[in-house]
Amino acid sequence: MQTDYLVIGSGIAGLTFALKAARKYPDRKVTVITKTSADETNTKYAQGGIAGVTDFERDSFEKHIEDTLISGDGLCNKNVVEVVVKEGVNRIHEMIEWGTQFDKEADGDFKLGKEGGHSEFRILHHKDVTGKEIERALLAAVAEHSNIEIVKHCFVVDLITQHHLGYLVTKATPDIECYGVYVLNLRTNQIEKIIAGTTLLATGGNGQVYRSTTNPNIATGDGVAMVYRAKGRIENMEFIQFHPTALYEPGVRGQSFLITEAVRGDGGILRNNKGEAFMERYDERKDLAPRDIVARAIDSEMKITGTEHVYLDVRHIPLSKFIEHFPNIYEKCRSIGTDVTKDMIPVVPAAHYSCGGIKTNDWGRTSIRNLYAAGECASTGLHGANRLASNSLLEAMVFAHRAFLDSTAQQTNGKPIPPIPDWNAQGTTDPKEMILITQSLKEVQQVMSDYVGIVRTNVRLERALRRLDLLWEETELLYQATTLSPQLCELRNMITVSYLIVKCAQFRKESRGLHYNTDYPAKSRLVQNIVL
Ligand code: FAD
Ligand code: SIN
Repeated sequence: MQTDYLVIGSGIAGLTFALKAARKYPDRKVTVITKTSADETNTKYAQGGIAGVTDFERDSFEKHIEDTLISGDGLCNKNVVEVVVKEGVNRIHEMIEWGTQFDKEADGDFKLGKEGGHSEFRILHHKDVTGKEIERALLAAVAEHSNIEIVKHCFVVDLITQHHLGYLVTKATPDIECYGVYVLNLRTNQIEKIIAGTTLLATGGNGQVYRSTTNPNIATGDGVAMVYRAKGRIENMEFIQFHPTALYEPGVRGQSFLITEAVRGDGGILRNNKGEAFMERYDERKDLAPRDIVARAIDSEMKITGTEHVYLDVRHIPLSKFIEHFPNIYEKCRSIGTDVTKDMIPVVPAAHYSCGGIKTNDWGRTSIRNLYAAGECASTGLHGANRLASNSLLEAMVFAHRAFLDSTAQQTNGKPIPPIPDWNAQGTTDPKEMILITQSLKEVQQVMSDYVGIVRTNVRLERALRRLDLLWEETELLYQATTLSPQLCELRNMITVSYLIVKCAQFRKESRGLHYNTDYPAKSRLVQNIVL
Protein backbone atom coordinates (compact mmCIF):
# COMPACT_ATOMS: atom_id res chain seq x y z
CA MET A 1 0.00 0.00 0.00
CA GLN A 2 1.13 3.54 -0.72
CA THR A 3 -0.33 6.61 0.97
CA ASP A 4 0.38 10.32 1.30
CA TYR A 5 -0.15 10.61 5.05
CA LEU A 6 0.31 7.56 7.25
CA VAL A 7 -1.04 7.99 10.77
CA ILE A 8 -0.34 5.30 13.37
CA GLY A 9 -2.99 5.61 16.05
CA SER A 10 -6.66 6.58 16.19
CA GLY A 11 -6.69 8.58 19.43
CA ILE A 12 -6.95 12.35 19.72
CA ALA A 13 -3.51 13.02 18.20
CA GLY A 14 -3.85 10.70 15.20
CA LEU A 15 -7.42 11.65 14.30
CA THR A 16 -6.76 15.39 14.66
CA PHE A 17 -3.83 15.13 12.26
CA ALA A 18 -5.82 12.96 9.83
CA LEU A 19 -8.75 15.40 9.76
CA LYS A 20 -6.48 18.33 9.08
CA ALA A 21 -4.68 16.58 6.23
CA ALA A 22 -7.90 15.28 4.67
CA ARG A 23 -9.68 18.63 4.81
CA LYS A 24 -6.81 20.63 3.39
CA TYR A 25 -5.98 18.12 0.63
CA PRO A 26 -9.12 16.27 -0.52
CA ASP A 27 -7.09 14.71 -3.37
CA ARG A 28 -4.52 13.15 -1.02
CA LYS A 29 -4.86 9.82 0.71
CA VAL A 30 -4.75 9.64 4.53
CA THR A 31 -4.38 6.20 6.12
CA VAL A 32 -4.94 5.70 9.85
CA ILE A 33 -3.74 2.42 11.36
CA THR A 34 -4.98 1.07 14.66
CA LYS A 35 -4.06 -2.21 16.29
CA THR A 36 -7.53 -3.06 17.63
CA SER A 37 -10.85 -1.25 17.08
CA ALA A 38 -10.89 2.40 16.05
CA ASP A 39 -11.98 3.76 19.43
CA GLU A 40 -9.91 1.57 21.77
CA THR A 41 -7.44 4.25 22.82
CA ASN A 42 -6.27 6.02 25.98
CA THR A 43 -8.23 8.98 24.65
CA LYS A 44 -11.53 7.14 25.11
CA TYR A 45 -10.91 6.75 28.86
CA ALA A 46 -10.03 10.39 29.62
CA GLN A 47 -12.27 11.64 32.38
CA GLY A 48 -11.35 15.04 33.86
CA GLY A 49 -11.14 16.97 30.58
CA ILE A 50 -9.03 19.47 28.65
CA ALA A 51 -7.21 22.29 30.41
CA GLY A 52 -7.53 25.59 28.56
CA VAL A 53 -8.03 29.25 29.28
CA THR A 54 -11.56 30.20 28.22
CA ASP A 55 -12.66 32.44 31.11
CA PHE A 56 -10.45 35.47 30.58
CA GLU A 57 -12.04 37.40 33.47
CA ARG A 58 -10.79 35.07 36.19
CA ASP A 59 -8.04 33.19 34.36
CA SER A 60 -5.15 34.08 32.05
CA PHE A 61 -2.55 32.42 29.81
CA GLU A 62 0.10 33.54 32.30
CA LYS A 63 -1.54 31.59 35.13
CA HIS A 64 -1.88 28.41 33.07
CA ILE A 65 1.73 28.74 31.92
CA GLU A 66 2.88 29.27 35.51
CA ASP A 67 0.94 26.24 36.80
CA THR A 68 2.42 24.04 34.03
CA LEU A 69 5.96 25.22 34.82
CA ILE A 70 5.54 24.64 38.57
CA SER A 71 4.20 21.15 37.98
CA GLY A 72 7.05 20.34 35.55
CA ASP A 73 9.56 21.01 38.36
CA GLY A 74 12.18 22.87 36.33
CA LEU A 75 12.30 20.68 33.22
CA CYS A 76 9.58 22.18 30.99
CA ASN A 77 10.58 23.92 27.79
CA LYS A 78 9.09 27.37 28.45
CA ASN A 79 8.64 28.17 24.78
CA VAL A 80 6.68 24.97 24.23
CA VAL A 81 4.55 25.65 27.31
CA GLU A 82 3.63 29.09 25.94
CA VAL A 83 2.85 27.67 22.51
CA VAL A 84 0.59 24.91 23.87
CA VAL A 85 -1.29 27.13 26.33
CA LYS A 86 -1.87 29.92 23.78
CA GLU A 87 -2.56 27.86 20.65
CA GLY A 88 -4.56 25.33 22.67
CA VAL A 89 -7.59 27.61 22.84
CA ASN A 90 -7.99 27.61 19.03
CA ARG A 91 -7.62 23.85 18.98
CA ILE A 92 -10.37 23.53 21.63
CA HIS A 93 -12.70 25.63 19.48
CA GLU A 94 -11.85 23.44 16.48
CA MET A 95 -12.76 20.38 18.54
CA ILE A 96 -16.13 22.00 19.27
CA GLU A 97 -16.64 22.78 15.55
CA TRP A 98 -16.00 19.10 14.83
CA GLY A 99 -18.85 18.18 17.16
CA THR A 100 -17.45 17.72 20.69
CA GLN A 101 -19.93 18.79 23.37
CA PHE A 102 -18.47 20.28 26.54
CA ASP A 103 -20.74 20.82 29.56
CA LYS A 104 -22.18 24.32 29.90
CA GLU A 105 -23.84 26.42 32.59
CA ALA A 106 -27.40 27.69 32.12
CA ASP A 107 -26.02 31.02 30.82
CA GLY A 108 -24.05 29.28 28.08
CA ASP A 109 -20.59 29.59 29.67
CA PHE A 110 -18.48 26.43 29.95
CA LYS A 111 -18.71 24.53 33.22
CA LEU A 112 -15.10 24.48 34.32
CA GLY A 113 -13.49 21.88 36.57
CA LYS A 114 -10.33 22.02 38.67
CA GLU A 115 -7.59 19.45 39.21
CA GLY A 116 -4.30 19.15 41.09
CA GLY A 117 -1.76 21.91 40.39
CA HIS A 118 -4.27 24.28 38.72
CA SER A 119 -4.67 27.69 40.34
CA GLU A 120 -8.03 28.27 38.59
CA PHE A 121 -11.09 26.38 37.39
CA ARG A 122 -10.19 25.87 33.70
CA ILE A 123 -10.97 22.27 32.71
CA LEU A 124 -13.55 21.77 29.99
CA HIS A 125 -15.27 18.43 30.29
CA HIS A 126 -18.16 16.27 29.22
CA LYS A 127 -19.39 14.99 32.59
CA ASP A 128 -16.76 12.40 33.65
CA VAL A 129 -16.49 10.83 30.19
CA THR A 130 -14.73 13.59 28.25
CA GLY A 131 -12.50 11.25 26.27
CA LYS A 132 -15.39 9.10 25.11
CA GLU A 133 -17.13 12.22 23.81
CA ILE A 134 -13.98 13.47 22.04
CA GLU A 135 -13.32 10.08 20.43
CA ARG A 136 -16.98 9.85 19.30
CA ALA A 137 -16.91 13.30 17.74
CA LEU A 138 -13.56 12.77 16.01
CA LEU A 139 -14.55 9.40 14.53
CA ALA A 140 -17.82 10.90 13.29
CA ALA A 141 -15.94 13.78 11.65
CA VAL A 142 -13.45 11.37 10.09
CA ALA A 143 -16.31 9.28 8.63
CA GLU A 144 -17.32 12.30 6.55
CA HIS A 145 -14.03 12.28 4.63
CA SER A 146 -13.77 9.74 1.85
CA ASN A 147 -10.00 10.29 1.57
CA ILE A 148 -9.40 8.97 5.11
CA GLU A 149 -9.18 5.22 5.50
CA ILE A 150 -9.06 3.70 8.99
CA VAL A 151 -7.35 0.32 8.86
CA LYS A 152 -8.34 -1.57 12.02
CA HIS A 153 -6.76 -4.67 13.58
CA CYS A 154 -3.44 -3.94 11.93
CA PHE A 155 -0.31 -4.03 14.10
CA VAL A 156 2.63 -1.82 13.15
CA VAL A 157 5.78 -3.84 13.74
CA ASP A 158 8.59 -1.54 12.65
CA LEU A 159 9.48 1.68 10.88
CA ILE A 160 11.13 1.28 7.47
CA THR A 161 14.43 3.16 7.16
CA GLN A 162 17.70 2.85 5.21
CA HIS A 163 18.43 -0.11 7.49
CA HIS A 164 15.92 -2.15 5.46
CA LEU A 165 17.73 -1.15 2.24
CA GLY A 166 20.90 -2.78 3.53
CA TYR A 167 22.69 0.27 4.94
CA LEU A 168 24.25 0.40 8.38
CA VAL A 169 22.19 2.80 10.48
CA THR A 170 23.44 3.90 13.90
CA LYS A 171 22.64 6.69 16.36
CA ALA A 172 25.38 8.66 14.61
CA THR A 173 23.84 8.33 11.12
CA PRO A 174 22.99 11.95 10.24
CA ASP A 175 19.96 11.59 7.94
CA ILE A 176 17.89 8.60 8.95
CA GLU A 177 14.73 8.61 6.80
CA CYS A 178 11.38 6.93 7.35
CA TYR A 179 9.73 5.45 4.27
CA GLY A 180 6.71 3.91 6.00
CA VAL A 181 6.11 0.83 8.14
CA TYR A 182 5.86 -2.96 8.17
CA VAL A 183 2.52 -4.08 9.57
CA LEU A 184 1.08 -7.36 10.75
CA ASN A 185 -2.36 -7.54 9.16
CA LEU A 186 -4.34 -9.39 11.81
CA ARG A 187 -7.04 -10.42 9.35
CA THR A 188 -4.61 -12.22 7.01
CA ASN A 189 -1.73 -12.83 9.46
CA GLN A 190 0.65 -11.52 6.79
CA ILE A 191 3.34 -8.88 7.18
CA GLU A 192 2.70 -6.11 4.65
CA LYS A 193 4.46 -2.83 3.93
CA ILE A 194 2.85 0.57 3.81
CA ILE A 195 4.89 3.24 2.04
CA ALA A 196 4.29 6.90 2.88
CA GLY A 197 5.69 10.36 2.24
CA THR A 198 4.86 11.43 5.80
CA THR A 199 4.37 9.19 8.83
CA LEU A 200 2.94 10.35 12.17
CA LEU A 201 3.36 8.23 15.27
CA ALA A 202 0.40 8.76 17.62
CA THR A 203 0.68 5.46 19.43
CA GLY A 204 -0.15 6.68 22.94
CA GLY A 205 1.33 5.63 26.28
CA ASN A 206 2.95 2.66 27.97
CA GLY A 207 1.07 2.15 31.27
CA GLN A 208 0.82 -1.57 30.58
CA VAL A 209 4.45 -2.09 31.56
CA TYR A 210 3.15 -1.82 35.14
CA ARG A 211 0.93 -4.37 36.93
CA SER A 212 -1.56 -1.74 37.94
CA THR A 213 -2.49 0.98 35.43
CA THR A 214 -5.37 3.16 34.34
CA ASN A 215 -4.35 2.51 30.71
CA PRO A 216 -6.14 0.05 28.42
CA ASN A 217 -4.33 -2.99 26.97
CA ILE A 218 -3.22 -1.10 23.84
CA ALA A 219 -0.85 1.10 25.88
CA THR A 220 2.35 -0.88 25.40
CA GLY A 221 4.74 1.83 24.22
CA ASP A 222 5.05 0.47 20.66
CA GLY A 223 5.88 3.82 19.04
CA VAL A 224 8.70 4.59 21.46
CA ALA A 225 10.19 1.10 21.04
CA MET A 226 10.03 1.34 17.24
CA VAL A 227 11.81 4.69 17.18
CA TYR A 228 14.47 3.42 19.56
CA ARG A 229 15.07 0.39 17.32
CA ALA A 230 15.26 2.72 14.29
CA LYS A 231 17.99 4.68 16.17
CA GLY A 232 15.84 7.75 16.75
CA ARG A 233 16.04 9.88 19.90
CA ILE A 234 14.02 9.10 23.03
CA GLU A 235 14.03 11.27 26.16
CA ASN A 236 12.93 11.59 29.81
CA MET A 237 11.43 8.12 30.10
CA GLU A 238 11.97 8.05 33.87
CA PHE A 239 9.03 10.41 34.38
CA ILE A 240 6.14 7.96 34.68
CA GLN A 241 3.13 9.60 36.23
CA PHE A 242 1.18 7.55 38.75
CA HIS A 243 -2.39 8.76 39.10
CA PRO A 244 -3.14 9.07 42.82
CA THR A 245 -6.67 7.71 42.69
CA ALA A 246 -7.41 4.54 40.75
CA LEU A 247 -10.26 2.53 42.23
CA TYR A 248 -8.94 -0.23 44.52
CA GLU A 249 -10.56 -3.50 43.43
CA PRO A 250 -8.65 -6.49 44.80
CA GLY A 251 -8.56 -9.43 42.41
CA VAL A 252 -9.37 -7.37 39.31
CA ARG A 253 -6.64 -7.77 36.69
CA GLY A 254 -5.83 -5.41 33.82
CA GLN A 255 -6.93 -1.81 33.46
CA SER A 256 -7.90 -0.07 36.73
CA PHE A 257 -10.92 2.20 36.82
CA LEU A 258 -9.97 5.85 37.35
CA ILE A 259 -11.53 8.18 39.90
CA THR A 260 -10.85 11.51 38.23
CA GLU A 261 -8.89 14.19 40.02
CA ALA A 262 -11.84 16.48 39.29
CA VAL A 263 -13.55 14.75 42.22
CA ARG A 264 -10.95 16.34 44.48
CA GLY A 265 -11.46 19.59 42.53
CA ASP A 266 -15.12 19.42 43.61
CA GLY A 267 -14.15 18.88 47.27
CA GLY A 268 -13.21 15.17 47.62
CA ILE A 269 -10.79 14.55 50.53
CA LEU A 270 -8.16 11.82 50.80
CA ARG A 271 -8.16 9.97 54.13
CA ASN A 272 -6.09 7.12 55.55
CA ASN A 273 -7.49 4.03 57.29
CA LYS A 274 -7.82 6.03 60.54
CA GLY A 275 -9.99 8.58 58.75
CA GLU A 276 -7.27 11.28 58.89
CA ALA A 277 -7.14 13.86 56.08
CA PHE A 278 -3.42 13.29 55.64
CA MET A 279 -2.59 15.57 52.68
CA GLU A 280 -2.26 18.62 54.94
CA ARG A 281 0.83 16.97 56.42
CA TYR A 282 2.50 16.78 53.00
CA ASP A 283 1.71 19.98 51.10
CA GLU A 284 -0.09 23.25 51.74
CA ARG A 285 -2.15 22.71 48.57
CA LYS A 286 -3.44 19.54 50.28
CA ASP A 287 -5.55 17.28 48.02
CA LEU A 288 -4.98 19.53 45.01
CA ALA A 289 -1.18 19.49 45.10
CA PRO A 290 0.46 18.30 41.84
CA ARG A 291 0.12 14.59 41.16
CA ASP A 292 3.68 13.53 41.96
CA ILE A 293 3.30 14.93 45.48
CA VAL A 294 -0.13 13.40 46.11
CA ALA A 295 0.86 9.95 44.76
CA ARG A 296 4.00 9.90 46.93
CA ALA A 297 2.00 10.98 49.98
CA ILE A 298 -0.47 8.12 49.44
CA ASP A 299 2.41 5.68 48.95
CA SER A 300 3.93 6.86 52.22
CA GLU A 301 0.59 6.62 54.11
CA MET A 302 0.04 3.08 52.83
CA LYS A 303 3.51 2.11 54.02
CA ILE A 304 3.04 3.76 57.44
CA THR A 305 -0.38 2.20 58.05
CA GLY A 306 0.44 -1.12 56.34
CA THR A 307 -2.63 -0.92 54.11
CA GLU A 308 -3.13 -1.57 50.39
CA HIS A 309 -5.13 1.59 49.71
CA VAL A 310 -6.39 4.87 51.13
CA TYR A 311 -9.86 6.42 50.79
CA LEU A 312 -11.43 9.25 48.87
CA ASP A 313 -14.20 10.81 50.93
CA VAL A 314 -17.03 12.47 48.99
CA ARG A 315 -19.79 11.91 51.55
CA HIS A 316 -20.09 15.66 52.18
CA ILE A 317 -20.68 16.50 48.50
CA PRO A 318 -24.43 16.77 47.76
CA LEU A 319 -25.41 13.63 45.84
CA SER A 320 -27.22 15.53 43.07
CA LYS A 321 -24.09 17.60 42.43
CA PHE A 322 -21.90 14.49 42.46
CA ILE A 323 -24.12 12.59 40.04
CA GLU A 324 -24.41 15.55 37.69
CA HIS A 325 -20.63 15.82 37.26
CA PHE A 326 -19.62 12.19 37.80
CA PRO A 327 -22.41 9.87 36.63
CA ASN A 328 -20.00 7.21 35.39
CA ILE A 329 -18.05 7.09 38.66
CA TYR A 330 -21.27 7.04 40.66
CA GLU A 331 -22.51 4.04 38.67
CA LYS A 332 -19.18 2.21 38.93
CA CYS A 333 -19.07 2.68 42.72
CA ARG A 334 -22.67 1.52 43.02
CA SER A 335 -21.88 -1.58 40.94
CA ILE A 336 -19.25 -2.68 43.47
CA GLY A 337 -21.45 -1.93 46.47
CA THR A 338 -19.94 1.45 47.42
CA ASP A 339 -22.62 4.00 48.34
CA VAL A 340 -20.79 7.32 47.97
CA THR A 341 -23.16 9.04 50.41
CA LYS A 342 -22.19 6.61 53.21
CA ASP A 343 -18.96 4.84 52.19
CA MET A 344 -15.57 6.26 51.35
CA ILE A 345 -14.16 5.17 47.96
CA PRO A 346 -11.05 2.92 48.27
CA VAL A 347 -8.30 4.27 46.00
CA VAL A 348 -4.68 3.49 45.19
CA PRO A 349 -2.08 5.05 42.83
CA ALA A 350 -1.67 3.39 39.41
CA ALA A 351 0.63 4.00 36.43
CA HIS A 352 -1.13 6.56 34.28
CA TYR A 353 0.94 8.67 31.90
CA SER A 354 4.36 8.74 30.25
CA CYS A 355 5.77 12.29 30.33
CA GLY A 356 8.81 11.40 28.22
CA GLY A 357 8.89 9.62 24.89
CA ILE A 358 9.96 10.24 21.30
CA LYS A 359 11.91 13.48 21.27
CA THR A 360 10.39 16.09 18.97
CA ASN A 361 11.09 19.69 18.11
CA ASP A 362 8.55 22.53 18.38
CA TRP A 363 6.81 21.25 15.24
CA GLY A 364 6.49 17.59 16.17
CA ARG A 365 9.47 16.51 14.05
CA THR A 366 11.38 13.52 15.43
CA SER A 367 15.11 12.97 14.85
CA ILE A 368 14.13 10.78 11.85
CA ARG A 369 13.20 12.50 8.58
CA ASN A 370 9.57 12.39 7.43
CA LEU A 371 8.60 10.99 10.82
CA TYR A 372 6.51 13.02 13.25
CA ALA A 373 5.22 12.17 16.72
CA ALA A 374 2.32 13.69 18.65
CA GLY A 375 0.28 12.84 21.72
CA GLU A 376 1.41 10.72 24.63
CA CYS A 377 4.18 8.90 22.72
CA ALA A 378 5.96 12.22 22.09
CA SER A 379 8.25 14.22 24.35
CA THR A 380 7.70 17.81 23.24
CA GLY A 381 9.04 19.58 26.32
CA LEU A 382 5.61 20.55 27.67
CA HIS A 383 5.45 18.30 30.70
CA GLY A 384 8.99 18.42 32.07
CA ALA A 385 9.31 16.18 35.14
CA ASN A 386 5.59 15.98 35.88
CA ARG A 387 2.60 16.67 33.62
CA LEU A 388 -0.02 19.12 34.85
CA ALA A 389 -3.42 17.39 34.94
CA SER A 390 -5.51 17.62 31.76
CA ASN A 391 -2.66 19.12 29.73
CA SER A 392 -2.15 16.02 27.58
CA LEU A 393 -5.29 16.20 25.44
CA LEU A 394 -4.38 19.84 24.87
CA GLU A 395 -0.81 18.98 23.89
CA ALA A 396 -1.97 16.23 21.53
CA MET A 397 -4.21 18.64 19.60
CA VAL A 398 -1.62 21.41 19.40
CA PHE A 399 1.18 19.12 18.21
CA ALA A 400 -1.00 17.21 15.75
CA HIS A 401 -1.81 20.60 14.22
CA ARG A 402 1.82 21.74 14.18
CA ALA A 403 3.07 18.44 12.79
CA PHE A 404 0.54 18.70 9.99
CA LEU A 405 1.62 22.25 9.10
CA ASP A 406 5.29 21.28 9.12
CA SER A 407 4.81 18.08 7.12
CA THR A 408 2.93 19.99 4.45
CA ALA A 409 5.89 22.28 3.96
CA GLN A 410 8.21 19.26 3.81
CA GLN A 411 6.14 17.14 1.41
CA THR A 412 6.35 19.64 -1.45
CA ASN A 413 10.09 19.03 -1.74
CA GLY A 414 9.97 15.28 -1.04
CA LYS A 415 12.36 12.88 -2.82
CA PRO A 416 11.15 9.70 -4.56
CA ILE A 417 11.00 6.73 -2.16
CA PRO A 418 13.42 3.90 -3.06
CA PRO A 419 12.09 0.35 -3.69
CA ILE A 420 11.44 -1.30 -0.31
CA PRO A 421 12.03 -5.04 0.16
CA ASP A 422 9.30 -7.34 1.47
CA TRP A 423 9.47 -8.51 5.10
CA ASN A 424 11.80 -11.44 5.50
CA ALA A 425 10.17 -14.19 7.61
CA GLN A 426 12.56 -16.95 6.51
CA GLY A 427 13.32 -19.60 9.11
CA THR A 428 10.46 -18.72 11.46
CA THR A 429 7.85 -21.20 12.64
CA ASP A 430 4.54 -20.95 14.46
CA PRO A 431 4.84 -20.47 18.24
CA LYS A 432 4.53 -23.68 20.21
CA GLU A 433 3.76 -22.28 23.65
CA MET A 434 2.06 -18.99 24.46
CA ILE A 435 3.19 -19.39 28.08
CA LEU A 436 6.67 -18.23 26.99
CA ILE A 437 5.13 -14.88 26.15
CA THR A 438 2.49 -14.53 28.86
CA GLN A 439 4.83 -15.44 31.71
CA SER A 440 7.52 -13.03 30.52
CA LEU A 441 4.92 -10.29 30.30
CA LYS A 442 3.92 -10.86 33.93
CA GLU A 443 7.57 -10.75 34.92
CA VAL A 444 8.10 -7.39 33.17
CA GLN A 445 5.09 -5.92 34.97
CA GLN A 446 6.23 -7.33 38.30
CA VAL A 447 9.79 -6.04 37.95
CA MET A 448 8.63 -2.57 36.92
CA SER A 449 5.99 -2.33 39.67
CA ASP A 450 8.22 -3.61 42.46
CA TYR A 451 11.51 -1.95 41.50
CA VAL A 452 10.70 1.05 39.30
CA GLY A 453 7.51 2.45 40.88
CA ILE A 454 6.76 5.68 42.74
CA VAL A 455 9.82 5.39 44.99
CA ARG A 456 13.10 4.06 43.54
CA THR A 457 16.57 3.19 44.83
CA ASN A 458 19.85 2.47 43.03
CA VAL A 459 19.76 -1.19 44.08
CA ARG A 460 16.20 -1.67 42.84
CA LEU A 461 17.07 -0.09 39.50
CA GLU A 462 20.14 -2.33 39.11
CA ARG A 463 18.06 -5.41 39.89
CA ALA A 464 15.39 -4.35 37.44
CA LEU A 465 17.97 -3.93 34.69
CA ARG A 466 19.49 -7.37 35.28
CA ARG A 467 16.09 -9.04 35.09
CA LEU A 468 15.09 -7.07 32.01
CA ASP A 469 18.36 -8.08 30.32
CA LEU A 470 17.50 -11.74 30.73
CA LEU A 471 13.93 -11.24 29.53
CA TRP A 472 15.25 -9.32 26.52
CA GLU A 473 17.69 -12.09 25.59
CA GLU A 474 15.00 -14.79 25.80
CA THR A 475 12.46 -12.70 23.90
CA GLU A 476 14.91 -11.83 21.10
CA LEU A 477 15.58 -15.53 20.55
CA LEU A 478 11.84 -16.16 20.38
CA TYR A 479 11.34 -13.20 18.03
CA GLN A 480 14.01 -14.44 15.60
CA ALA A 481 12.56 -17.95 15.49
CA THR A 482 8.80 -17.39 15.61
CA THR A 483 6.03 -16.24 13.29
CA LEU A 484 5.06 -12.81 14.58
CA SER A 485 2.02 -12.23 16.76
CA PRO A 486 0.86 -8.96 18.38
CA GLN A 487 1.51 -10.50 21.80
CA LEU A 488 5.13 -11.24 20.97
CA CYS A 489 5.68 -7.81 19.39
CA GLU A 490 4.09 -6.08 22.38
CA LEU A 491 6.21 -8.04 24.83
CA ARG A 492 9.34 -7.07 22.91
CA ASN A 493 8.26 -3.42 22.88
CA MET A 494 7.40 -3.45 26.57
CA ILE A 495 10.81 -4.84 27.49
CA THR A 496 12.46 -2.10 25.40
CA VAL A 497 10.34 0.62 26.98
CA SER A 498 11.00 -0.75 30.48
CA TYR A 499 14.71 -0.75 29.72
CA LEU A 500 14.50 2.89 28.61
CA ILE A 501 12.63 3.87 31.79
CA VAL A 502 15.26 2.17 33.97
CA LYS A 503 18.23 3.58 32.02
CA CYS A 504 16.87 7.15 32.18
CA ALA A 505 16.13 6.65 35.90
CA GLN A 506 19.72 5.51 36.47
CA PHE A 507 21.14 8.50 34.62
CA ARG A 508 19.15 10.95 36.73
CA LYS A 509 21.23 11.29 39.88
CA GLU A 510 18.63 13.34 41.75
CA SER A 511 14.98 13.32 42.75
CA ARG A 512 12.85 15.56 40.56
CA GLY A 513 9.17 15.62 39.73
CA LEU A 514 7.91 12.09 39.23
CA HIS A 515 11.33 10.50 39.65
CA TYR A 516 12.07 9.92 43.33
CA ASN A 517 15.22 8.01 44.29
CA THR A 518 15.92 7.66 48.02
CA ASP A 519 19.66 7.48 47.28
CA TYR A 520 19.47 11.03 45.88
CA PRO A 521 16.58 12.59 47.82
CA ALA A 522 17.46 16.16 46.78
CA LYS A 523 17.34 17.97 43.46
CA SER A 524 20.65 18.50 41.73
CA ARG A 525 21.50 21.96 40.47
CA LEU A 526 22.12 20.53 37.03
CA VAL A 527 18.79 20.61 35.23
CA GLN A 528 18.81 18.67 31.98
CA ASN A 529 16.81 16.28 29.85
CA ILE A 530 18.07 12.72 29.52
CA VAL A 531 18.23 11.69 25.88
CA LEU A 532 18.92 8.11 24.76
P1 FAD B 1 -4.17 7.09 22.32
O1 FAD B 1 -5.45 7.78 22.48
O2 FAD B 1 -3.75 6.19 23.40
O3 FAD B 1 -4.21 6.26 20.96
C1 FAD B 1 -3.18 5.35 20.65
C2 FAD B 1 -3.49 4.69 19.33
O4 FAD B 1 -2.32 4.08 18.82
C3 FAD B 1 -4.55 3.59 19.39
O5 FAD B 1 -5.40 3.73 18.27
C4 FAD B 1 -3.74 2.30 19.23
O6 FAD B 1 -4.43 1.24 18.62
C5 FAD B 1 -2.64 2.80 18.32
N1 FAD B 1 -1.44 1.95 18.37
C6 FAD B 1 -0.52 1.84 19.35
N2 FAD B 1 0.45 0.97 19.00
C7 FAD B 1 0.14 0.53 17.77
C8 FAD B 1 0.74 -0.39 16.87
N3 FAD B 1 1.87 -1.05 17.16
N4 FAD B 1 0.14 -0.62 15.68
C9 FAD B 1 -1.01 0.02 15.36
N5 FAD B 1 -1.63 0.90 16.16
C10 FAD B 1 -1.05 1.16 17.35
N6 FAD B 1 -5.49 13.47 29.69
C11 FAD B 1 -6.08 14.69 29.78
O7 FAD B 1 -5.55 15.67 29.24
N7 FAD B 1 -7.24 14.82 30.46
C12 FAD B 1 -7.87 13.80 31.07
O8 FAD B 1 -8.93 13.96 31.63
C13 FAD B 1 -7.27 12.52 31.00
N8 FAD B 1 -7.82 11.46 31.63
C14 FAD B 1 -7.27 10.22 31.46
C15 FAD B 1 -7.90 9.12 32.02
C16 FAD B 1 -7.41 7.85 31.80
C17 FAD B 1 -8.09 6.66 32.43
C18 FAD B 1 -6.25 7.68 31.01
C19 FAD B 1 -5.71 6.32 30.75
C20 FAD B 1 -5.60 8.78 30.48
C21 FAD B 1 -6.10 10.05 30.69
N9 FAD B 1 -5.48 11.16 30.16
C22 FAD B 1 -6.07 12.40 30.27
C23 FAD B 1 -4.33 11.02 29.27
C24 FAD B 1 -4.84 11.10 27.80
O9 FAD B 1 -6.07 10.43 27.71
C25 FAD B 1 -3.85 10.44 26.84
O10 FAD B 1 -2.57 10.92 27.07
C26 FAD B 1 -4.23 10.78 25.41
O11 FAD B 1 -5.57 10.43 25.17
C27 FAD B 1 -3.33 10.03 24.44
O12 FAD B 1 -3.81 10.24 23.15
P2 FAD B 1 -2.96 9.71 21.92
O13 FAD B 1 -3.70 10.15 20.70
O14 FAD B 1 -1.57 10.13 22.06
O15 FAD B 1 -2.98 8.11 22.06
C1 SIN C 1 -8.19 12.73 35.67
O1 SIN C 1 -9.31 12.95 35.21
O2 SIN C 1 -7.92 12.72 36.86
C2 SIN C 1 -7.09 12.47 34.71
C3 SIN C 1 -6.69 13.74 34.12
C4 SIN C 1 -5.36 13.61 33.44
O3 SIN C 1 -4.73 12.56 33.46
O4 SIN C 1 -4.92 14.62 32.88
